[in-house]
Amino acid sequence: MAPQCIYETAGRKTLGGKKQVNEVWNNIQESEMTITLNKMEEEKKIVSISTDIGIEKSDELSTEFPKSIPNKETRMNKIESKNVNCWYGDFHVLRDINMEIKHNTVTALIGPSGCGKSTYLRIFNRMNDLIEGFRLEGEILIDNKNVFAKDVAINELRKKVGMVFQKPNPFPKSIFENVAYGLRVNGVTHKKFIEETVERSLKQAALWDEVKDKLTKNALSLSGGQQQRLCIARAIAIEPSVVLMDEPSSALDPISSAKIEELIWELKAKYTILIVTHNMQQASRVSDRTAFFYLGELVEYDDTKTIFTNPKKERTQNYITGRFG
Ligand SMILES: Nc1ncnc2c1ncn2[C@@H]1O[C@H](COP(=O)(O)OP(=O)(O)O)[C@@H](O)[C@H]1O
Ligand SMILES: [Mg+2]
Repeated sequence: MAPQCIYETAGRKTLGGKKQVNEVWNNIQESEMTITLNKMEEEKKIVSISTDIGIEKSDELSTEFPKSIPNKETRMNKIESKNVNCWYGDFHVLRDINMEIKHNTVTALIGPSGCGKSTYLRIFNRMNDLIEGFRLEGEILIDNKNVFAKDVAINELRKKVGMVFQKPNPFPKSIFENVAYGLRVNGVTHKKFIEETVERSLKQAALWDEVKDKLTKNALSLSGGQQQRLCIARAIAIEPSVVLMDEPSSALDPISSAKIEELIWELKAKYTILIVTHNMQQASRVSDRTAFFYLGELVEYDDTKTIFTNPKKERTQNYITGRFG
């Protein structure tokens, strides 16, 4: 088996050989690009490196790779939303939304139904593009690159920005194939690599122990809570750097919901997470920063603790204390 690697440069993921591995590696050290590098050796060893998270499997690293990666990125904002305005036809659904989001944080988007939270969330991986009449002004920068720039390929963007929906939506395929899906559609054929990725993703999604003996079973045979964790595993299998979650636990029982919350807290070591939630306790438990939306405006955006204990705006206070919404 010839050496292979999957690498990502400024949002573009490519499959290449050992030469490219070295080329990419040399580039990383000179720039602040996001790089995910999966290197496969002749002996089918797999190495994953990401500047977001440091080295994942340092014991398997060959000596030609340094043991640590300078991480200039973490000092920059992961995401910036600049003067974002959106319309559905004539309806001005989001007004002048400005936000800065740091790497490896959880941001909760809260506010009454219909205030534009889902619309806003869907901007980050351009899911609204499919909606007729949708129009946007302003910029969304992820790693300093506008996601609406002409040279951004949507499928590449969606690899980088994963999404988990309110209702678990596994494919009617085996548990294993659900998680392997993203790799397969991206042309990965290396069996061992796929197996390792599936296992790692299921472990990260806190589902491995429950499914490791029935990976070939249909995903639809799992409980709702397990299905949602499977969808999280599927989303993270292709190593996105941002994960969007739209009310990921609102359709689940309290125990499953608590598991998802715990998981979100753990996942932020690796990902930058945006979560829409109607559950104020959940927002206060899982998030670092909270953004309160009302009628298409970002009323207040601050540290979660401040929002829930000492909000500056009366509308925020009224909402979090349940006086409306
Ligand atoms: N595809 C669409 N076409 C037209 N209007 C829409 C569409 N999706 C949402 N809206 C409207 O935009 C507003 C914000 O919706 P949404 O982003 O789903 O809010 P939230 O997630 O906060 O409940 C609502 O008034 C909703 O009716
Ligand atoms: Mg919504």
